Amino acid sequence: MSDANNAEWHRVAKTSEVTDDEPKAVQVGAEYIALFKVDGTFYATDDVCTHEFASLSEGFVEGDVIECPLHAGQFHIPTGKALSPPVEEDLRTFPVKVEGDDIYVQVPKG
Ligand code: FES
Repeated sequence: MSDANNAEWHRVAKTSEVTDDEPKAVQVGAEYIALFKVDGTFYATDDVCTHEFASLSEGFVEGDVIECPLHAGQFHIPTGKALSPPVEEDLRTFPVKVEGDDIYVQVPKG
C-alpha cells in the first residue's frame, strides 16, 4: 500500500496491544515508533526522546501527555510538542489508521 506523498502504510500492532496506560514500541525500517492510545484514539510518535536516548514507550502516560522515563521531560502525544524541560525539540508524529483489529502507521520512505 503506498500513497502519493511517498509514504507507506505499515501494519504494526493489534489494537489490543496498546492501552491508555501501556504504550507500545514498534520498529518500521530504521524508525523506532511509539504507539499510544488516548481516549480511544491511537497515535504514533518517535519512540526515542529528543533530549537523550530513552524509549518514551517505557515512560509514564498522564492523559494525553507522555513523560520520559529518564529525565521526566514531557510531550503532548497527539502533536508531539515538547511541553516541559529538559525537552525542547518536538517529536515527529506519524499518521495512524485502524482497520479491523490492526493498527497501521504511515512512515515516509527511506
Ligand atoms: S532523555 Fe528524555 S528527558 Fe532526557
